[in-house]
Amino acid sequence: MLARRELVAAPIASADPRVAIRQRGKRAAAPRGGLLARSPAQLTAAVEELLRFESPVQYQARRATRQVCVHGVQIPAGARVVLLWGSANRDERRWRRADRLDIAREAKRHLAFGEGIHHCLGAPLARLEGRIVLEQVLAHMPSYRIVGPVERVTTHNTRGVVRLPIEV
Ligand code: HEM
Repeated sequence: MLARRELVAAPIASADPRVAIRQRGKRAAAPRGGLLARSPAQLTAAVEELLRFESPVQYQARRATRQVCVHGVQIPAGARVVLLWGSANRDERRWRRADRLDIAREAKRHLAFGEGIHHCLGAPLARLEGRIVLEQVLAHMPSYRIVGPVERVTTHNTRGVVRLPIEV
């Protein structure tokens, strides 16, 4: 099953542009307080954008119960298919500059919690947790600094952060 702690940590790490900068091996250059500190009112939109951008659950496998045509591709009944949530959430046909984290982006439905009858039961809780964590970080550690390498999860279908050293 999924490590919830890591799923919530990933968006928090992404909320800070310095994470991406550090992972590219460059010097941290973002202003103190990070991307969200300047606009706490945008937290709800920010959580959605972080979920879209990170897509903590990257994919899931299914078997087609009947023949179906998706974007012109015929999928026969019984075929194994992979639902690439992470890819769909960066689809340029739906998201302008999809590879860019933009917390001011117009809110649109994304697939970070899946879709259909297996849509994540914990989605409202995860959204609430994400919002509360960001609120608390901003309230109590507004000028935190990332001081060490970010360690990411290495599982087959989840994306997240296991270690994010900071200085407050
Ligand atoms: C950022 C946090 C989370 C993400 C990104 C996430 C993502 C997902 C996704 C993509 C699915 C669909 C799985 C599928 O289609 O097979 C799913 C299912 C599920 N999630 Fe989450 N989840 C999160 C947090 C949580 C939490 C906090 C809980 C419970 C407290 C939870 C409980 C479940 C359950 C029970 C299912 C199975 C639903 C079903 O098969 O009917 N999730 N989640």
